[in-house]
Amino acid sequence: MFGLLHFLFLRALPAIAGDSDLLISFKNSLANPSLLSDWNHAKGVCDFRGVACKEGYVSSLTIRELPLGADFSSVSAHILSLPNLETLSLHSTNLSGSISAPAKCTVQLKKLDLSSNDLRGSVSDVASLAVSCSSLQSLNLSNNSIGQAFYRSYPFLLNLKMLDLSYNKIATNKDLQWLFSQLGLFQHLDLSHNNIPGSLSNLKYLMMWQNNLNGEIPGKLSSLRSLRNLVLDYNNLTGTIPDGLVNCRSLNWISLASNRLTGSIPNWIGLSVSVIDLSNNRLSGPIPEWGSLPTFPGYVFDNNSGLCGLPLPPCNGGSPSKEDVPQPPSTNHESSQGRWIAIGLLFSFFFIIGFVIGLLIK
Ligand SMILES: *[C@@H]1O[C@H](CO)[C@@H](O)[C@H](O)[C@H]1NC(C)=O
Ligand SMILES: *[C@@H]1O[C@H](CO)[C@@H](O)[C@H](O)[C@H]1NC(C)=O
Ligand SMILES: *[C@@H]1O[C@H](CO)[C@@H](O)[C@H](O)[C@H]1NC(C)=O
Ligand SMILES: *[C@@H]1O[C@H](CO)[C@@H](O)[C@H](O)[C@H]1NC(C)=O
Ligand SMILES: *[C@@H]1O[C@H](CO)[C@@H](O)[C@H](O)[C@H]1NC(C)=O
Repeated sequence: MFGLLHFLFLRALPAIAGDSDLLISFKNSLANPSLLSDWNHAKGVCDFRGVACKEGYVSSLTIRELPLGADFSSVSAHILSLPNLETLSLHSTNLSGSISAPAKCTVQLKKLDLSSNDLRGSVSDVASLAVSCSSLQSLNLSNNSIGQAFYRSYPFLLNLKMLDLSYNKIATNKDLQWLFSQLGLFQHLDLSHNNIPGSLSNLKYLMMWQNNLNGEIPGKLSSLRSLRNLVLDYNNLTGTIPDGLVNCRSLNWISLASNRLTGSIPNWIGLSVSVIDLSNNRLSGPIPEWGSLPTFPGYVFDNNSGLCGLPLPPCNGGSPSKEDVPQPPSTNHESSQGRWIAIGLLFSFFFIIGFVIGLLIK
C-alpha cells in the first residue's frame, strides 16, 4: 500500500504538477488572463475549464469561441508540449501568429482543431507542424490565413489523413502543386473557399489515385486547360466521364480504373489520349471507333458492365464470328486511314484560319 502510494506520488504527482504549470503559464501569457480564471493552483488540473483527463493526466483540451488572443508560439510552448495530450480544440479563440513548428510537440496528439482563427503560414508550414506532431491524424485549419508561399520540402505529411484548409488564402500554383504531390495520403482534403480557381489553369498533372474520393468527377476540371495527366484510379467515383474534359486539349493520359463510373465512353477520348485505363468500372456501350481506342489492349477496358467493340468483342450481343464483322479488315483499315486524312485536313484548315485570325488581331 505504502509502496503504491509512494509509486503514485513519485510518478503521477510531478506529471500533474507539470500539466498544471504548463496550463497556468499559458494563461499568464494572455493579455487577459482572467478569461481562464479557474485555471489556478488551488484546483486540480483535471477540473480546469475545458480540460479532460485520463488517469490523472490532461488528455484533451477544448476551448471554443473565447477571445484568448494568444500567439501560436504560446500555444506551442505551453499546450502542445503537454505530454499526454491527445486532442486539442481552440476553435475561434482569436489565435494569431505563424504556425511554425513547435520545438516540442507531444507524440500523443492525434487531433488538432485550430479553425476560425487568424493563423498564418505556408502550406509547407502546415507540413512542418504535422511532421513535428508526429502522431497527428486530423488537423483543422479551416478559416485562417494559410497560404503565403514559402517552401521547404517535406517528403510526406506522416500520419495526416484529414486536412481541412478550406477558407484560407491559398492561391498559388506552387502551393497547389505541393499539396497535390502529397495527395496520395489524404482521405479527406478540403480546399474549398481559397483563391484557387484562376490560378489552376497551369496545372498539368492531377494525380489523386487511391483517395476514397466519392461522388462525380467534377465537370469543373474542364477549366484546367493545361491538364495532361488525369489519374483518379482506385477511388469511389460515380457518374459519367464528364464531356467537358474535351476542352482539356493536352489531356493524353486518362486513368480512371477501379471506380464506379457509369455511362458510355465519350467520343473525344480516342482523339487525345495515348495512355488510358478504364478497367473495373460500370461503363457500357460501344467503344468509340474514333482515333486510338481500338488500338489499345483489351484489358484497359476489362471488367465493365457492358463495353463492346474493338478491342473487345463486337456489340451485336452474339459471339464474335466472321459473318458478324461488317467489313473485311483491309477495308476497315482503308476507311480509318481515309478518316484520319480527313481529320488531318480539318485540323490544318482550322490551324491556318487560327493563324490568320491571330495575325489580323495583331
Ligand atoms: C484578438 O486579439 C488581438 C491581439 O492578438 C486583439 O488586438 C484583438 O482585439 C482581439 N480581438 C477580439 C475580437 O478579441
Ligand atoms: C471565420 O472565423 C471568424 C472569426 O472567428 C468568424 O467570425 C467567421 O464566421 C468564420 N467564417 C467561417 C466561414 O467559418
Ligand atoms: C473544421 O472546422 C470547421 C469550423 O469549426 C468545421 O465547420 C469543419 O466541419 C471542420 N472540418 C472537419 C473536416 O471536421
Ligand atoms: C463508396 O460510396 C458508397 C456510397 O456512394 C458507400 O456506400 C461506400 O461505403 C463507399 N466505399 C468506400 C470504400 O468509401
Ligand atoms: C477483373 O476482375 C477480376 C476479378 O475481380 C480480376 O481478377 C482481374 O484482375 C480484373 N481485371 C483487371 C484488368 O483489373
